[in-house]
Amino acid sequence: MTDTSMTFIQFLLDERRRLDTDRDLTTLLHSVATACKAISNALKNGALADVLGSLESENVQGETQKKLDVIANEIFLKRCEFSGVLGAMVSEEMDHIYEIPAKFPKGRYVLLFDPLDGSSNIDVNVSVGSIFSILKLNDVPDTNSYDQVLRPGVEQVAAGYALYGPSTMLVLSTGSGVHGFTLDGNIGEFRLTHRDITIPADCAEFAINMSREQWWEPPVQRYVKECVEGEAGPRGKYINMRWIASMVAEVHRVLMRGGVFMYPIDEKTRDKGGRLRLFYEANPMAFLIEQAGGAASTGRGRIMEVAPKDPHQRVPVILGSRNEVALIEQYHAEHD
Ligand code: AHG
Ligand code: MN
Ligand code: MN
Ligand code: MN
Repeated sequence: MTDTSMTFIQFLLDERRRLDTDRDLTTLLHSVATACKAISNALKNGALADVLGSLESENVQGETQKKLDVIANEIFLKRCEFSGVLGAMVSEEMDHIYEIPAKFPKGRYVLLFDPLDGSSNIDVNVSVGSIFSILKLNDVPDTNSYDQVLRPGVEQVAAGYALYGPSTMLVLSTGSGVHGFTLDGNIGEFRLTHRDITIPADCAEFAINMSREQWWEPPVQRYVKECVEGEAGPRGKYINMRWIASMVAEVHRVLMRGGVFMYPIDEKTRDKGGRLRLFYEANPMAFLIEQAGGAASTGRGRIMEVAPKDPHQRVPVILGSRNEVALIEQYHAEHD
């Protein structure tokens, strides 16, 4: 049975002793966890705290910002700049690299994050999350350009997310399996509740925004058609569907009970390369999914091998149970 007495920081210290991980990474992850606790707290009172709704502003993605997109971004910056181990921060909500203020020491780590994922769900009180990805560079980066942070996902040293659902959870991998922690409000600490999460190779559940079917490419249309045909179709079984429109909640479900999550490229997103962002969504989730024994693909290759050209670059995302992802890749190969 999982030892629920272990707090997040105890887990990190234990990993450090067992695996000889870097002390600076422990410091950074502790800061990230503190940011997630603060965001969880900001979300908790919803309309009572006047934190819902949109702002006038648009982010670099061309999306109207929610108040909480900006609040969560600020929380990440303020909690993590203090760590003394970061050389830069890069966020979905910022059009520039965040330079660490001169009053703090700098380090070789770079934190890339989606401060609030699923923000369209905020005003209807549905689960949202935060996603983070961590790189370790050879030197403290020059923040005048993105050049040094344009690294492929295979170079991530850690990644994870916080899920603000009925309970708040933190799910993390430092490259040695995937582990889940639940926020214990009584002591204000995350506690280990899910050690060594693994995804079953097969599944009977898929997640996709079905309203976009008309714009999908033929391989995705084929896969989903065969899923919904159920027992009468070539799959010969009923396959259930879910769509929450919060990637964190979706990926969490896949990690907990298997399944496949897709936001494929389609006619409407072709000019941008897809819907989801490589740095803030696709790479960190791909790292976790692969660490849990699943697969994460664009349909035509491994997400973590995509060579980034732009920090806000988007990619097609197909991830989850590895046999399902392999089948969808096969349909792409047969079509191309
Ligand atoms: P964000 O709120 O960070 O901009 O990301 C939202 C993403 C992702 O969470 C979700 O999978 C997807 O957008 C939902 O898209 P649809 O609105 O097309 O369902
Ligand atoms: Mn957004
Ligand atoms: Mn997002
Ligand atoms: Mn977001």
